[in-house]
Amino acid sequence: MQTVRLPQSELEKHLVGRPRHVFISGASRGIGEAVARLLGEDPHRISLGARSYNRMLGIAMDLGQERCFPVRLDLGDTTSIDEAIVASEQKFGPIDVLVANAGINLPTPIDDTTDEGRQRFRRVLDVNLTGTYFLAQRVIDHMPNGGRIVFVGSVLARMGVPGASGYVASKHALQGLVRAMAVELAPRNIRVNMINPGWVDTQMAHESLQRIAQASGETLQQTTAKMMSGQLIRRMIKPSEVAGYVKFLLSPAGDAITGQGLDLSCGQVLI
Ligand SMILES: NC(=O)c1ccc[n+]([C@@H]2O[C@H](COP(=O)([O-])OP(=O)(O)OC[C@H]3O[C@@H](n4cnc5c(N)ncnc54)[C@H](OP(=O)(O)O)[C@@H]3O)[C@@H](O)[C@H]2O)c1
Repeated sequence: MQTVRLPQSELEKHLVGRPRHVFISGASRGIGEAVARLLGEDPHRISLGARSYNRMLGIAMDLGQERCFPVRLDLGDTTSIDEAIVASEQKFGPIDVLVANAGINLPTPIDDTTDEGRQRFRRVLDVNLTGTYFLAQRVIDHMPNGGRIVFVGSVLARMGVPGASGYVASKHALQGLVRAMAVELAPRNIRVNMINPGWVDTQMAHESLQRIAQASGETLQQTTAKMMSGQLIRRMIKPSEVAGYVKFLLSPAGDAITGQGLDLSCGQVLI
């Protein structure tokens, strides 16, 4: 039987024989750090962006500073976004792959009409949506044809929960952005997707569980057990599992996927 050879994807053509430049936002800990460490097993050049410079420096030292570059990035500050991308492009050239992972989750209950409450709502939208979009815009400016963009969204792009309207709205909006960008960037063969994780074992999840436990008068263990009981697979997701999904999307096997929200939720949501 004759085997049919599929045409090489734009990314493969463009990147054959050279490692990619990958920029990861929110790379100082949690999911972003796991993505950096997993992709760091391959000979890529990796830029790490977040506010905690010393933590990123530690990761860069582990991966090798000749191919891993920590850069200060505050998604709430457009100057910081511009400067981070300029510095990273000066270091390793145009960015082939953006992993837009950074995000925050602050309490935003609907009945909180205080100035602080409104500030928190603005801050969540500013970092998770507006700053993330501005970051992507800067990267796309010089991104070679065939590049890839992966946003880290959330199952809360699929459903609502109490007390987190800012976060829920930001992640739903991010899903819209992914669809819009996938269409607009298709002529440049740039794939744009979003991974929507459920409960991932990081600082963010622990802070959220703590808040829910406090509000309901339960222990942390009781709240965690209750959350896990709403899933088909009753455990937290490991940051390395999200990293593995990112790696899949960047591989040739991910070449036919764009404009999608891909759930990784231990069966918390069934779409
Ligand atoms: N953990 C979960 O259960 C879960 C579930 C669904 C989705 N997610 C999503 O996964 C992504 C990563 O979260 P995580 O769980 O790894 O949380 P995490 O441990 O709290 O890490 C968040 C990362 O974002 C960075 N960050 C926060 N504010 C920033 C800002 N203004 N500018 C630049 N970077 C900023 C943090 O670094 P600095 O503080 O050093 O800036 C850190 O590196 C987020 O988008 C989150 O919404 C998480």
